[in-house]
Amino acid sequence: MHLAIIMDGNGRWAKKRGLKRIEGHKKGAEVVKEITTYCADNPDIEILTLYAFSTENWKRPKMEVEFLMKLLDNWLKKELDTYIKNDVKFETIGDISKFSDKLKKRISHTKEVTKNNKKLTQILALNYGARDEITRAVKKLIETKEEITEENIQKNLDISRDVDLLIRTSGEIRLSNFLLWQIAYAEMFFTKSFWPDFTSKELEAIINDFKKRERRFGGI
Ligand code: IPE
Ligand code: IPE
Ligand code: MG
Repeated sequence: MHLAIIMDGNGRWAKKRGLKRIEGHKKGAEVVKEITTYCADNPDIEILTLYAFSTENWKRPKMEVEFLMKLLDNWLKKELDTYIKNDVKFETIGDISKFSDKLKKRISHTKEVTKNNKKLTQILALNYGARDEITRAVKKLIETKEEITEENIQKNLDISRDVDLLIRTSGEIRLSNFLLWQIAYAEMFFTKSFWPDFTSKELEAIINDFKKRERRFGGI
């Protein structure tokens, strides 16, 4: 299955503890590791897509944006061995053309080294917005003079695979421009836990709940 997570609540987690927002992002990165490791060991999960930075997140203070970029770079460097050890393939969605050359290199290196890994594909959504993704897909079809069909639009998205299960942490009940197309028939779960408090145990409970849901896809 394709599991997608909106990792939200890092800032509030930190604020609650009297810490700076960036401390929440640091703790959040550790949770990414725990959750990815859990997903790699769960044969039901083939793809894990994580919302890490939205097209709207550029609105944040420059210092926070810069911290997030640096955190990503350091994290990919530090965790490359974990990707290899856990047999996880790393991919991204979103428009990373705006990122620094250093970060772009780090991203492409991580993709290259992990491209044959099999247990799990972890996709980070980076400078990702679903509206931007759909717009880019339609532009491509026009450029290549392909017919505008649902199938062709879907094929040209950053990720074609439909989402089966969507989770958002932090108590907000909204999608914030995440995977709007792919989520058409996803089952959704919203938890009050802030992302830094989210655990593989909570994820497991949600997955068990998900398995009990009857998905009808418009049929009966
Ligand atoms: C999610 O946590 C991480 C990113 C969007 C990068 P937030 O930073 O949005 O944390 P809150 O929602 O302000 O608590
Ligand atoms: C969504 O969280 C984006 C990510 C988790 C990367 P936001 O915190 O940016 O969303 P809003 O602003 O609460 O809708
Ligand atoms: Mg938020």
